[in-house]
Amino acid sequence: MTILFPGSFDPVTLGHLDLIKRGAQLFDHIIVAVLHNPTKQPLFTVQERVKMLQIAVEGIPNVQIESYSGLLVEYAKKQGVSCVLRGVRSTADCAYEIPMAIANHQISTNANAISKNEAENVLTGYKLTGIETILLITSPAYAHISAGLVREVAAAGYGNAKSSNSINFAFDDKILDQWVLPTVKDMLRNKYL
Ligand code: PNS
Repeated sequence: MTILFPGSFDPVTLGHLDLIKRGAQLFDHIIVAVLHNPTKQPLFTVQERVKMLQIAVEGIPNVQIESYSGLLVEYAKKQGVSCVLRGVRSTADCAYEIPMAIANHQISTNANAISKNEAENVLTGYKLTGIETILLITSPAYAHISAGLVREVAAAGYGNAKSSNSINFAFDDKILDQWVLPTVKDMLRNKYL
């Protein structure tokens, strides 16, 4: 089975990579899809995020990196994929993921304009009718890491270092090694210095 792993990946963290590696063992093929959201101002462009993911998954043969815009269910349909993978670190993540999974299922089911036969299958419960979401629990070592946290610390560490030669620079830089790959750390540094 091919599964879609969508996200902002701004930037990709070791937590994302853990999910990708574990997903690659569970599923035949993973399409990691970077959301291009024109209404948001990301730190990294889509091209940069795709690049860092490509570097991150080098050597994992069944992982493909792509980007998308618009509705996730539309993109899944375009790719011919009916299953989405998302990671959960906490109950707070569940509170975000569960409604999204239900909405994606509902949107895709309606969008598929279920035929009478398919509608009957819904009643008997033996046929998948919409996009399904599989939630994979993040490994405990990465459960506290988020892209937002990485951006915040990088901005404080590198941003301050540039403006005031902050003495926190070395400390912040070292911290990032535990959260992101060296390539991503370099890209973060280049954004600020
Ligand atoms: O890494 P993120 O930001 O938590 O990922 C969220 C993402 C990109 C998976 C989600 O916001 C998404 O797919 N957005 C695309 C628009 C969409 O389909 N929205 C409806 C979801 S109910």
